[in-house]
Amino acid sequence: MIDALTASPVQPPEGAAADWTIPQNWPSYTPAEHALWDRLFARQAAMLEGRVVPSFLRGLDVLRLSKPGIPDFEELSERLDKLTGWKVVAAPGLVPDEVFFRHLANRTFIAGQFIRKPEQIDYLQEPDVFHDVFGHVPLLSDPVFADYMQAYGEGGLRSLTFGALEKLARLYWYTVEFGLIRDGGGLKLYGAGIVSSFGESHFALEDPSPNRIGFDLKRTMRTRYRIDDYQQTYFVIDSFEDLLRQTLETDFAPLYRDLAEAGDLETDAVLDTDRIICRGTQARAVRR
Ligand SMILES: [Fe+2]
Repeated sequence: MIDALTASPVQPPEGAAADWTIPQNWPSYTPAEHALWDRLFARQAAMLEGRVVPSFLRGLDVLRLSKPGIPDFEELSERLDKLTGWKVVAAPGLVPDEVFFRHLANRTFIAGQFIRKPEQIDYLQEPDVFHDVFGHVPLLSDPVFADYMQAYGEGGLRSLTFGALEKLARLYWYTVEFGLIRDGGGLKLYGAGIVSSFGESHFALEDPSPNRIGFDLKRTMRTRYRIDDYQQTYFVIDSFEDLLRQTLETDFAPLYRDLAEAGDLETDAVLDTDRIICRGTQARAVRR
């Protein structure tokens, strides 16, 4: 699932505001579209029980996301605002990086307005309302994760002045989209790209193919990622507190210089210095 970070149009399309937001126009969803949301919701919620970080399930609950039908962003934002000061607004698909970062820095999450077609139930390229709202919004009710998302947006705006967007995008990819987290003795899912995907929810946690490596900011930002298949490596954070701390404490200017010198790593690389939690067989990638 590609995300907003890969977009680069310049002007908001017709009908969008200067900040690229559009009205969600909730009454325009058809009964079939609401039913598709319900189907996706029921399948993912059942799959995630015991697999996802507990604060995600708490988020589903406190935001009342299990209420049938595609959520109304206004109602959702009201609940979210009371918890962490975030809100959800609609956008017409992909937006420029700067716009995306500015919204995050202002504690606004922009979500796709449309929902996928029934034949795209298992895969689509552009983030739709199910990926964006079911995948991303529950964790915005977690105060620490909510702060991380804001810090990421602020870091994103700074990265543009360093020409380091590609490196910073990897941090988003391997945490917000495809992150795993330690939970007791085991691992749990928290990345939106995983939790909104039926196939990858299983794969990321249980399949022997991918590497699972302890998260380190610099290591993660050196690593390329795949947009055409499940990830070959997942990075595991110890906690949201640790992720936020590493992000806030890092001086990104020297880090970007180091990264330019260190060079990129392939999607399946394993280094001697890695904290290896599980070395993958890469069977899936070899097969394909
Ligand atoms: Fe996403």
